[in-house]
Amino acid sequence: MPAGSLTVVGTGIAFGVQLTPQARMAIERADDVFYLLAEPAAEVWFRKLSPSAHSLRPHYAVGRERAETYVRMVEEILGAVREGRNVCAVFYGHPGVFASPSHEAVRRARAEGFSAVMLPAVSAEDCLFADLGVDPGESGCQSYEATDFLLRRRTFDPAAPLVLWQVAFIGVTGAPVEPSPHAFGVLVDHLLEFYEDSHRVIVYEASPYPVGAASIREFTLGEVRAAELGAMSTLYVPPAAVTPVDAGLRARLDAANVEPVPERL
Ligand SMILES: C[S@@+](CC[C@H](N)C(=O)[O-])C[C@H]1O[C@@H](n2cnc3c(N)ncnc32)[C@H](O)[C@@H]1O
Repeated sequence: MPAGSLTVVGTGIAFGVQLTPQARMAIERADDVFYLLAEPAAEVWFRKLSPSAHSLRPHYAVGRERAETYVRMVEEILGAVREGRNVCAVFYGHPGVFASPSHEAVRRARAEGFSAVMLPAVSAEDCLFADLGVDPGESGCQSYEATDFLLRRRTFDPAAPLVLWQVAFIGVTGAPVEPSPHAFGVLVDHLLEFYEDSHRVIVYEASPYPVGAASIREFTLGEVRAAELGAMSTLYVPPAAVTPVDAGLRARLDAANVEPVPERL
């Protein structure tokens, strides 16, 4: 295996307090550190932790397609790995959740014969489970990027929780711009094909700071189109119904198990 390696880590959502000891160790041991964080305050914190780290933010440019920006980020990270450096790439949240350059950097490094790993971290959805009291073990959880959900008419189950990411930037393929309320309205109209106008939904933002509560704003689906969205807004749509248990499958499970399946299932 050639010299040079890549470790991709995440800071968690709340900077400074959700960095795992494993990720901190990877940052401290690296020859070169590259980072892309969401908050100016998080960048200040990170530069104290890793003073010689290089920001990947300059790759964002007005008019540049997001895909092209990501190619440039991956190239910068891989360039250092190819020079035989032990590189750590740091992203906010979980580095592998809605963060394509991180996955691409790992794939490319491995394809070129280098050792490359990604470490897990706290994502926005992990914070949502905690802050909104949602347990995906109860009736599952469907999680989609909002533009993908809309344009591909993803088949989903309104009787299970639905998490929609990047609702402020529906249809945006370039650098993040101002959130578009009109594009969000198209998503809301689509959701109204499946839920009542009075169905309650939540615009959720976990606190990105070490202190401070999450922003949890509840609306009816009919009202939510007027909600002010931020870059970090995630839309949570609770289940609208309970799915009945299939009697035939229950009977087959009862026959297959020593114990009958409990009634409450
Ligand atoms: C490019 S993705 C990055 C996700 C991040 N890697 C993670 O692990 O959560 C950005 C989207 O994540 C969600 N997100 C990021 N920060 C958030 C926060 N503080 N609260 C709620 N959702 C957040 C929003 O849907 C936002 O549009």
